[in-house]
Amino acid sequence: MSTSWLKNSVFYEVYPQSFYDSNSDGIGDLRGIALKLDYIRELGCNALWINPIYDSPFMDAGYDVRDYKKIAPRYGTEDDFKHLLDEAHKRGMKILLDLVPGHTSDTHEWFKAAKTGYPSEYDNRYIFTKSVWDAPPEYRLMCGVCERDGNYLVNYFSSQPALNYGFHEVKYPAWQFSADSPEAWETVEALKDIMRFWLDKGIDGFRVDMADSLVKNDDEKISTAKIWRDIRLMMDADYPDAVLISEWSNPLRAIVNSGFHADFYLDHQGNGYNSLFRKRFGDGDNLSFFADHAHGDIEEFLADYTPAYLCSREHGYISFITNNHDMPRAPFYMSDEIIRLSHAFMMTMPGVPFVYYGDEIGMIYRTDLVSKEGGFSRTGSRTPMQWDHTKNLGFSDADEDMLYLPVDNRPEAPTVENQAGVQGSIYENLKALIALRKEFPELSNDSEFEIVYAKSHDYPFAYRRGSFVAFVNPSDDDRTIEYRMDGAEVAYTIGDWSADENTVTINARSFLLIKHS
Ligand code: GLC
Ligand code: CA
Repeated sequence: MSTSWLKNSVFYEVYPQSFYDSNSDGIGDLRGIALKLDYIRELGCNALWINPIYDSPFMDAGYDVRDYKKIAPRYGTEDDFKHLLDEAHKRGMKILLDLVPGHTSDTHEWFKAAKTGYPSEYDNRYIFTKSVWDAPPEYRLMCGVCERDGNYLVNYFSSQPALNYGFHEVKYPAWQFSADSPEAWETVEALKDIMRFWLDKGIDGFRVDMADSLVKNDDEKISTAKIWRDIRLMMDADYPDAVLISEWSNPLRAIVNSGFHADFYLDHQGNGYNSLFRKRFGDGDNLSFFADHAHGDIEEFLADYTPAYLCSREHGYISFITNNHDMPRAPFYMSDEIIRLSHAFMMTMPGVPFVYYGDEIGMIYRTDLVSKEGGFSRTGSRTPMQWDHTKNLGFSDADEDMLYLPVDNRPEAPTVENQAGVQGSIYENLKALIALRKEFPELSNDSEFEIVYAKSHDYPFAYRRGSFVAFVNPSDDDRTIEYRMDGAEVAYTIGDWSADENTVTINARSFLLIKHS
């Protein structure tokens, strides 16, 4: 065995609190995920990434870990976890947990000891200035909140103190440790110990939260990469089947320099993902390539993606995501029709794609909710999965006011029940595309990605994947390009197309996948 299983995988991201509640307390749980494994497999996904399930005060939905080795009671017990893992493995499915290496909760035992100011073995586990009074201006943020005379560095919310992996460039030697110091490497060892704990239980790897955030003053991420390469050596030696997938969105740094097996393509202002799916001018005009009345620019995507793909393809994979728990869901930006086209694109590109729970049915982004557990604007993408027309849309038997977040009560709310088996639904479209990707490994990673037709501010976009060619036209106009079908077979279509000897016409809001013999 090896990590070759990753090559043709399609992942499903499960936000555990909102997926399926098996014991009617209003919150999703591990038993609930186990009960829905067949559903996930039926969609075609063969691997799961589960957001943090560890003990936590949930100031950031579990990304504030209180105990890395304990499962949060609300999700179940160790036995429930073992059951889930066994059930997944029985079905040939993989499970990745979420590793949060950059910070802990301020209620973690390490931090509780470090903040007292009394000597303890965790004195250097976090980054404290020498004194609250003489902290340099850029480090005054958390001035004087605990007994210890110093300000601690925060990685995200104020309840998430940064772990000490040292500084690449030490500017204040009185309290900044070098990235090469024993103190910094003690934190690395503590991280490895946590990883081993779960890998020894048989998990198939980790999605790594804020993977670039470890070493401070490390603009080029040189010392951060060194740590990950060291961890990769441990993985290769002791857990050769397990993978690490980074939240980084920089394939050169993450995959090539740091040894991650795959890296997420995230929605970052100005990058290729943003230009394809999420490029909005303020609250107004949608300038994405995939949009209603689309008038985006495919060259913006290619300028970002192509070099990243070329430099990383021999080392690992770029992961397209339908969405994740941090961004507004796609219907906020585009109609179901355009979503289907975007799925066709993602499922015919190289890499390892991720489907965020509920995206397979077009669950909406809710703008009417107040923040839950540090979600803020992200809360609207974290609502309960919509299974069927029964109580709470099948998510939970609990009373409505007990639910983790309210379900989508609109009469037109999409559910698995009203989409499965319905020709042309988002669900059936995605399922068919995943099935094609599995049937023909050329569509995942057994072939190169080559551009066939791409012009700035023009449609369609056409690309070759081995013997396949995909044409996608989200715009409102039928578009004709020179292309010889040469008797190619039609492998998949959305909308309409036509061809004569030398040209192909892709109608407005259509997709065509052909296979040459
Ligand atoms: C990542 C997570 C996000 C979390 C943050 C801090 O970006 O995806 O949900 O809030 O890291 O851990
Ligand atoms: Ca529950």
